[in-house]
Amino acid sequence: MMSCFKHTEPTEDELAAFHRDGFIAYPDAMKDDYREALIEEVLSPNPIAHFLSISDKERADLDTPTRYFVRPWDDRGPLSDALIDEPLITSLLEATVGPDYHFCHSSMNLAMRGAEAGRFHQDHHHWNHDNPINLAERERYYIQVLYYPNGFTQGDRSLIVVPGSHRVSPTKDTAERLLTGELDDEAGRKLEAIHLELSPGSFVYLNARMYHGFDPKPIDSPQPFRIFLIDIFKEAGPPHRYTQEIPQSWRDKASPERLKLYDREPYTETCWIDG
Ligand SMILES: [Fe+2]
Repeated sequence: MMSCFKHTEPTEDELAAFHRDGFIAYPDAMKDDYREALIEEVLSPNPIAHFLSISDKERADLDTPTRYFVRPWDDRGPLSDALIDEPLITSLLEATVGPDYHFCHSSMNLAMRGAEAGRFHQDHHHWNHDNPINLAERERYYIQVLYYPNGFTQGDRSLIVVPGSHRVSPTKDTAERLLTGELDDEAGRKLEAIHLELSPGSFVYLNARMYHGFDPKPIDSPQPFRIFLIDIFKEAGPPHRYTQEIPQSWRDKASPERLKLYDREPYTETCWIDG
């Protein structure tokens, strides 16, 4: 098995950026041969190959013609599976969350030309959920690792980040007030939106309390589609909203270390009610 990344450990500067900004961007992190093989693997399952093979006119009849989205993303080949406990990812999780974390879920997403923008949001479900039993979970880490095997340019389905916004306690209208200056004191800095540009093989390691969004994909984008893979990890504790059931086939091939990542309860409708 080829290794995925050019580096195996985060630097002190990168870890400082994570705590200061709420994310670390890793441009061009994947080895070239790995990146190319990963893209081929990710696009090869039949439903995805079919989605890409039909005409724009045929795709227009689908419910989501500009987007292909799978969650949980269970049909992962060996190259994408390897990302889950690659040395750099394990080192990042241990250096930020600590030793007690679990795999939560994963998803894959293709954005086609014409895909719409995504408004600012944060993904830490224990902040957006009303059930008081989750208040104790709010300060626990929920980490999103966002992979962009074929990259993106600014303004073309680019990820928009608001560095420092992980320090703001989200309320229902925080997203609307984020850039008005009202929340700068709470964040301890001026909150500004940055439209990233990341070359193929990049990833972003993100504290899911940080607000982010994305630009639309122009109808005349030179890139036919942007590939977006997400692995999510959670600090040990109750399930998050999307904490997935682990397929038996994943367990069957898992190392003892990997099995520890899977040793948590999946989300169910009642999992937050009984405590
Ligand atoms: Fe998000």
